[in-house]
Amino acid sequence: MCGIVGYIGFRQAADICIAGLRHLEYRGYDSAGIAVIAEDGQLDVRKVVGKLAVLGELLEQQPLIGSTSIGHTRWATHGKPSVQNSHPHLSCDGRIAVVHNGIIENYQELRTQLEAEGHTFISQTDTEVMPHLVEKYYEGDLRAAVCQAVADLQGAFAFGVICADNPGQMVAVRRFSPLVVGIGEGENYIASDMGAIRKETDKVYVIADDELALLMPDSIELTDLDLNPIQREVFVIPWPADAAEKAGHKHFMHKEIHEQPEAMHACLAGRLSDPDKSIVLEGLNMTEAEIKSLRKVVLTACGTAYNAGLVGRFIMENLARVPSEADLAAELRARDPVVLDNTLCIVISQSGETADTLVALRDMQEKGAKILSVLNVVDSSIARESDGVVYIQAGPEIGVASTKAYTLQILTLELIALHFAEVRGTASAEQLRELKAALLQMPEHARVLLEREEDVKAIAAKHYEKPNALYLGRGINLPSAMEGALKMKEISYIHAEGYSAGEMKHGPIALIEPSCFTMAIAVAGEVYDKMIGNIMEIKARSGPVIAVADDGDEQIPVTGVDAEADPDDVASQPNDMIWVPPVPELVSPITVAIPLQLLAYHMADMRGEHIDQPRNLAKTVTVE
Ligand code: AGP
Repeated sequence: MCGIVGYIGFRQAADICIAGLRHLEYRGYDSAGIAVIAEDGQLDVRKVVGKLAVLGELLEQQPLIGSTSIGHTRWATHGKPSVQNSHPHLSCDGRIAVVHNGIIENYQELRTQLEAEGHTFISQTDTEVMPHLVEKYYEGDLRAAVCQAVADLQGAFAFGVICADNPGQMVAVRRFSPLVVGIGEGENYIASDMGAIRKETDKVYVIADDELALLMPDSIELTDLDLNPIQREVFVIPWPADAAEKAGHKHFMHKEIHEQPEAMHACLAGRLSDPDKSIVLEGLNMTEAEIKSLRKVVLTACGTAYNAGLVGRFIMENLARVPSEADLAAELRARDPVVLDNTLCIVISQSGETADTLVALRDMQEKGAKILSVLNVVDSSIARESDGVVYIQAGPEIGVASTKAYTLQILTLELIALHFAEVRGTASAEQLRELKAALLQMPEHARVLLEREEDVKAIAAKHYEKPNALYLGRGINLPSAMEGALKMKEISYIHAEGYSAGEMKHGPIALIEPSCFTMAIAVAGEVYDKMIGNIMEIKARSGPVIAVADDGDEQIPVTGVDAEADPDDVASQPNDMIWVPPVPELVSPITVAIPLQLLAYHMADMRGEHIDQPRNLAKTVTVE
């Protein structure tokens, strides 16, 4: 994820853009840049590697003067953080500047074609094809040239475009990546989200996919890509300017839970676009021969990333048919494992800086394993020591409790396992197609689940004062139970324990009583009937049950209900239900995770806890 802003009006633009970018740093902060149309009619550009403060310092020494400007803060996807790779990107003649959030999937072929037509590129980014395409089509009408350029693109984008020949114009256009147009008086704005411009205006147009905006100081024209006018209601931002950094959310954690649909799009873009096409994983750095000769996969991580690794182990064995195991990083090193040749160690980490995970990586590397990392932060310590890296594209995660990183770690591991299965021929064409189609549906499933937030909140209100909780799952959803319990314990301080439902009779059932709620993950699959049995055991001992089940399931709500029991006894009441869209069991941990994140969030909020900075915890544990 990156952040874009733009200003066109009568004031000096650079300071307004910098202020807007400061609210977008949560979207990316490895490099930043600004372009203005200067008074001499030239485009003037400043770009830096590093946080926005570095750009601010440069602008103090070398100010930008002009009233039409676009700015960008970057979260590297293609090409490492560098001045050349930072935005804005320019056309050959330096007259057109572009900022971009998203991923252009067909950039390689477009770049080859443009180079053959004489265009010169200076970066390794996908974005740089856009200013050259606009230059190719530009004949004096900037909006028309942008429409023609966009027609060549595949992928996700939100662009801001300015041209030195048209100082009184700015063009913005989007597909999948968010974009708003701010409405001022004699001045107008663009931004990746409302928070970036809330200090300037509370009136915006929310731009939809394949829509374009032509901004001038005194007017805004909204059209589709065929330039047919679009009528759009003005949206009045309901929250005050000082809530802008969290884009109106009460906590970063809540914002990041709600970013999952967009982040899932970013994670899939350029990798999986069609259920009938192969998966493309840039950065995997493994030949087909290596994939075919794999004898063992060891996944290792800490905390939430470890829970994602447990899911990864399940899908790797099930799909790629490679013997797999998942170890806590600290434990992997402690047991001094025997590493056979052709062993792949998959290292999972949001930050890429967790000390235990880095040490486990080095230990496995010394023992001869090939290292493939699944990371969020580009160019992090773990990235630099890995043989291959597949980035999850979640954008920066600020909240200490990891949410969007978890679902995107699983999504990325699903892509890797499916790719391995394709190469090794260990899954049928129909199974591959079904699972790819399910992954492509994930952003929409996430959106639907977030729309059901109030239902989860109502359940939280019933149970948030209970001191204990048991989270039960089986098979691929045992990690879901462990992750749901981790979320709950680390922000609400309720003692929640994730456990194999099959182990209930071997101890945990002793904990069941009215003050301990049980979360039972009972989505359709191999273990569904066994989960029915567990729920009955719990209800028979007057344990309150919250159950996760597929939309339309009629059995789970009434499982364990004893009509003879005292009406005040939970055994006589239906279970609290969390409904999820039905998906293939092998991808169900992604959909199950989102309501469990929301449940933990709302219980912690109702208990008045400091959700973004839970006691005793840090976002990144850089000590062993
Ligand atoms: C999860 O909510 C916690 N913040 C913590 O368990 C975290 O997942 C763990 O420290 C691993 O961090 P990493 O993914 O950055 O390596």
